[in-house]
Amino acid sequence: MRPVRFSPRLPALGLALAATAVALAGSGSSSSVAAATDAPPAPCPTQQTHPWCNRSLSPDARALLFQQAMTQDEEITLVGGDANGAAGHTGATYAIPRLGLRAIYFSDGPVGPRQGSATAMPVPMALAATWNQQLAHADGQEIATEAKDKGNDIVFAPTVNIMRTPQGGRTYEAYGEDTYLNAQTTVGWIQGAQSTGVIATVKHFVANNQEGQGGAPPFVATNGGRQLVDVQVDERTLREVYFPQFEAAVKQAKTGALMCSYNKVNGTYACENPHTLLQVLEGDWGYKGIVLADYGASKDTAGNMNNGLDFVPDEGQVDFSYQPQLIQAALATGQVSRATLDAHVRRILRTLFAFGVFDRPGYANSDSQINVAADQRTAERTEERAITLLKNDGVLPLKPGIKKIAVIGPYANRFVTGGGSGGVTPRRIITVLQGIIARAGKPVTVTYADGSDQAAAAALAKAADVAVVVVGDVETEGQDKDCIGLNCTSDTVNSEAVLETSGSSCGAQSCPLNGTNEDGLVSAVAAAQKKTVVVLETGAPVLTPWRAQVPAILEAWYPGQEGGTAIARVLFGEVNPGGRLPATFPADASQLQTAGDPMKYPGVAEEESYSEGVFVGYKWYDAHKFTPAYPFGYGLSYTTFRYGPLHVSVTRRANQVATTTIDITNTGRRAGIAVPELYISKPAVGALPQPLRQLVGYDSVTVPAGRTVRVSFPLNDRSFATWDSTGWRVIPGCYGLAAGSSSRSLPGHAVVSRGAHCGGAGAKLGTSGSFFLPLPATARATLLPRSAHPGKRHARKHRR
Ligand code: BGC
Repeated sequence: MRPVRFSPRLPALGLALAATAVALAGSGSSSSVAAATDAPPAPCPTQQTHPWCNRSLSPDARALLFQQAMTQDEEITLVGGDANGAAGHTGATYAIPRLGLRAIYFSDGPVGPRQGSATAMPVPMALAATWNQQLAHADGQEIATEAKDKGNDIVFAPTVNIMRTPQGGRTYEAYGEDTYLNAQTTVGWIQGAQSTGVIATVKHFVANNQEGQGGAPPFVATNGGRQLVDVQVDERTLREVYFPQFEAAVKQAKTGALMCSYNKVNGTYACENPHTLLQVLEGDWGYKGIVLADYGASKDTAGNMNNGLDFVPDEGQVDFSYQPQLIQAALATGQVSRATLDAHVRRILRTLFAFGVFDRPGYANSDSQINVAADQRTAERTEERAITLLKNDGVLPLKPGIKKIAVIGPYANRFVTGGGSGGVTPRRIITVLQGIIARAGKPVTVTYADGSDQAAAAALAKAADVAVVVVGDVETEGQDKDCIGLNCTSDTVNSEAVLETSGSSCGAQSCPLNGTNEDGLVSAVAAAQKKTVVVLETGAPVLTPWRAQVPAILEAWYPGQEGGTAIARVLFGEVNPGGRLPATFPADASQLQTAGDPMKYPGVAEEESYSEGVFVGYKWYDAHKFTPAYPFGYGLSYTTFRYGPLHVSVTRRANQVATTTIDITNTGRRAGIAVPELYISKPAVGALPQPLRQLVGYDSVTVPAGRTVRVSFPLNDRSFATWDSTGWRVIPGCYGLAAGSSSRSLPGHAVVSRGAHCGGAGAKLGTSGSFFLPLPATARATLLPRSAHPGKRHARKHRR
């Protein structure tokens, strides 16, 4: 039995404010290191005395047997974490030695384990920019393997909240503005992570899309702060925009754990919300895994217990709702039934059984097990695919014969990543400057200026053959940016306060952006040197007011510890960029869906309205006919592609009603990565306005020079369905399909009729269907033989 603690329950505001600061500064902070430990013994030494150890039984049956052997006090022990026993991990459970259950350990997070030093991967926004589910799988596998080698059973990742505004402090941690791209990346990541035996934790459920403004930076935002904000959002918007990536995590990826968030949804905290947790997650989606609370997100013993919260990891530190005496009191007064407690315990246990926790020794905590070289390769390969070429007037790739390169800017010679629980202490750092020096070799002189002196930087640029300016933003959990440009006040404040404790190299040198006017720097360098390449290291879209002044722009995101090598390889043309934007770059801040109305963002008196509904990201730009700086799905290559016509046919396979195919020909002289994207336009009916188009399929394929690849997109009823008050429904009408290279470049078109007469329909289908299907699967690509007429069927599989 864990010792009974008598921590007073803090009032909501105090708790809220204390929570994040403690979570970030205290448990599992990047500087604390768990002492290396041998593997703890397997909890099932004998099957004779421990009937739940019988492996032929189902996880549910084993969980029931174990739970029936527990006392009430032991059950109470299992639903609250041991905040003081984390020993360098982000958290731990209490062991129950009498029954052979050891402590279970968990670690953040989505960029790498936050426990000692780790391989700092490119951030999740970069991963989303690869548009590649296999890389998401590899990323999940790599991070979970390192977490496992540090003795963890559970990893608190992936973060899958939609980017509702690029001001969001955690946009770097997630997968951008589109639900489908997000869901596919989520599925790849979780499947990769859980293939290691580690349990993934999809977070933060749900509508946790901002950190807030004001207050005392960096951790406490008082205006629309995540701890307090009450998100008013209609059911259709939840079902179509903010739920699907969680739904895919549950139904397709079978995530073992899910973290509920701090905020309220329609008046009720997310960790005690009967609609989101009981009706949707458990009821509609059939989730059987663990629901655990974000650190400080549980508020009310009976409210949490009765509405689906199984486990409070930080109990006793910033959460107090599952402290033993409160649960005992709730049971004694009948506010919570014993059956409810039993059910929470069984859900935790069944997940541990399902993931083999009882059938193997615990994981040893020793970095010596980590395959450092392999992880570095994964980090570099991912970043190479993530780098997104936004503009190129022929300067890139850098030409042989260049004698002098000026590398300039506050980000050129340091490691920068996002702050907060997604921060990672990198195992090593390769900066852009180092990457360029290594790649350029002896014959090329590389000069460097940090950009704090604009005139000196311009002179350096002028004296070189080409200038590479590296600039970026600062994002952190706990505080949104106060602008979306490169010169935000919040960047300056947060760069010192947060980045150095979150994996950035700010400790050694002063942090970026302290007084550096980055927009001014780019313009000054561009005025001095015609061949100026801008490399952005940002966690989200930013404003690019100087984009007409420079011939080339690369978005490298927060590129991870191997970023310098990957960026140099793209600059020199060893790698042909394959990244595409997972979020729209606005032409100016007034184009954002959250602009101009404080009720929409950051909220008024802690209430916020998602009144844009389903018109999020590019769907908003399309609806308002805005021309962004760079649209969703956009990105250039060093080669060119031609997109053929779009064909659609009826197919009746499991989870598929139609197949769409398109041929893509590489019309240039070198191999390149094409990212074909398929969008659907649904018929609008009065009460259900529809986005002009929305993504329903994509792939990322290497196409050799002069060759053609055929990509097939499977569509299921869910691809066509709309959520109305009665559920998912295919509205009778004509559905447009369009394919191409970005949300604004879609040369291929087709029409599918569903229970309606549509001229020129390529496929005719009825409107009935099964709507608890998962989202459609990812596309498949096939390299056509040279002789094949585009239009004939498949040749051999093409390796991606
Ligand atoms: C974050 C979570 C994180 C937890 C533990 C919270 O502040 O919101 O994402 O997993 O801390 O570090």
